[in-house]
Amino acid sequence: MPSMPSTPSAPAASVLDLAPVVPVVVVDDAADAVPLARALVAGGLPAIEVTLRTPAALDAIRAIAAEVPDAVVGAGTVISPANVADSVSAGARFLVSPGWTDALLVAMKGSGVPFLPGVSTTSEVVALLERGVSEMKFFPAEAAGGAAYLKSLAGPLPQARFCPTGGISPANAPSYLALKNVGCVGGSWMLPADAVAAKDWARVESLAREASGLV
Ligand code: 3PG
Repeated sequence: MPSMPSTPSAPAASVLDLAPVVPVVVVDDAADAVPLARALVAGGLPAIEVTLRTPAALDAIRAIAAEVPDAVVGAGTVISPANVADSVSAGARFLVSPGWTDALLVAMKGSGVPFLPGVSTTSEVVALLERGVSEMKFFPAEAAGGAAYLKSLAGPLPQARFCPTGGISPANAPSYLALKNVGCVGGSWMLPADAVAAKDWARVESLAREASGLV
């Protein structure tokens, strides 16, 4: 399990080693990005994945990269080479995808930043290993078999390491983080929709602090 980064401005070699818990953020209003990121950083979660699911996402990444120097902002839901290019241009320092294709892998490998393609089956893990990629997102983690599934993969495929996301909570995060093939977990539980809608950044910070205290 990784420790928190001591120098957030240094380039990361691996997404899995950035921080044990990576908040997965959906930003509807780019004006929320900076206070939201500051709350997460203050709560001990400096690695922040902004998903490319809203029109505000790239502006949010740009704002966090420019104004929250202690954050390591990345892009999530990266599903095309164009998403890769747009994310890196906006300042994303890591890339995460729920899946992968060969075209996406080529773009991610050429991006210059660490990346996690997504898998949910053993054959996808083997296919990524065959392509020289050993670090991946396991999605949707709970629906695809949970911690028991990842534990089972460590026997035949010990070289693969994962960031499980999808259905992770304070209750099940420790069982994932205890696995030797898990580097970090991702999730949105520290960003409840009602707190974000109310711009209740103190609550986000408090939930982030609880999340960072899980490890
Ligand atoms: C996602 O891509 O939405 C992440 O996996 C977050 O999942 P969660 O909302 O279940 O934490």
